[in-house]
Amino acid sequence: MEKSNPNKINKVVLAYSGGLDTSVIITWLKEKYGCQVIAFCADLGQGEDLEEVAEKAKKTGASKVVISDLREVFAKEYIFPMLRANAVYEGTYLLGTAIARPLIAKKQMEIAKKYGAEGVSHGATGKGNDQVRFELSYFSIDPDIKIIAPWRDWAFESRSDLMAYAKRHKIPVTATIKKPYSIDSNLFHTSYEGGILENPWTEPPESMFMMTTSPERAPEKPAVIDIGFREGNPVSIDGKRYSPGKLIVELNRIGGSHGIGRVDLVENRYVGMKSRGVYETPGGTILHVAHRAVESLTLDREVLHLRDSLISQYAEIIYYGYWFSPERELLQTLFDRAQEGVTGVARLKLYKGSLTLLGRKAPRSLYSKAISTFEKDTCYVQKDAEGFIRLNALRLKLPALSRTKVKGSRAKGK
Ligand code: ARG
Repeated sequence: MEKSNPNKINKVVLAYSGGLDTSVIITWLKEKYGCQVIAFCADLGQGEDLEEVAEKAKKTGASKVVISDLREVFAKEYIFPMLRANAVYEGTYLLGTAIARPLIAKKQMEIAKKYGAEGVSHGATGKGNDQVRFELSYFSIDPDIKIIAPWRDWAFESRSDLMAYAKRHKIPVTATIKKPYSIDSNLFHTSYEGGILENPWTEPPESMFMMTTSPERAPEKPAVIDIGFREGNPVSIDGKRYSPGKLIVELNRIGGSHGIGRVDLVENRYVGMKSRGVYETPGGTILHVAHRAVESLTLDREVLHLRDSLISQYAEIIYYGYWFSPERELLQTLFDRAQEGVTGVARLKLYKGSLTLLGRKAPRSLYSKAISTFEKDTCYVQKDAEGFIRLNALRLKLPALSRTKVKGSRAKGK
């Protein structure tokens, strides 16, 4: 039972991108609910002119426009914790879209509270993960929030339906040529899906990629970079310190120019279907490899193995949209505790789409050349290994021993 009539709502905060869909949503919300619409434009580093986007929201009929520069928060409080955990979904997807949704939702809810709006709305379709991510986040912040997901509600079925509606209602539509696929872009990655990519056999056109040069066209000369980490967080490139947001931008620039970080995959959506996605995450790919390199020197073996066994679950939690959940927070605490000694430097070579680790060092390295050397050493007593193996082999010997016992007793006629 609804507490109140859902068709009566005073104000709605809409996650607004400036595209055709969310522009139509402004008008549609006003028409259907007679409400005011506050357009919220989040700057997550997607590289759009947000003043222009805001202007468009106003022209389309938003009663208010809020622009927030969330780039540094996004990097420090969302991307970095996820990188500290080495999160990867289904072995390949670095979760660039999934990690942005909870932050957008959180800000939307703050704006709703500030301006006394009863509802929030987004432009995600009823078939994807993003609706789940947005709405789980909204509910975790305010259990009574009214959520309007127009894509699940309205009668439009296609882009031409939306265009016709926009024309009828004089909604300003920027005359950009519609790309034959859907794009989602932020500081961390760009993702492409739908349209021509729906056939998993169709190769993506080279012209599609926005962050990376193709490996074939990347420079003949490789780049070598040093990435410095402090307690699991990347802090410097070639010894120069950067803020979290700027560090990712800089790595995207370097990595992108060398064709690093493209992946093409078929993933399992939370709502049950398989979907084909193409991603470019140049900086994130570099950070992932560099972080693992520093961890290889600084993490205890059992801690590393235990942590690794939890990564796919943590990644699934983020992919499914449970960023604001007790289980994500619990795992985060565990991962972060393990990161306390993960301070050091990784050196990488970037060359035509490939990343090669050249070296790693750490002030509190657990690696000891004195112990692992093939040369003569004074710490490790090779003779000890004999007893170590003998005791570990004990339970492996048992079946064979019991077989001989049975055989022996048969021979004796017992
Ligand atoms: N499949 C990805 C995810 O669920 C990306 C979704 C949004 N991307 C897009 N191009 N519309 O995280």
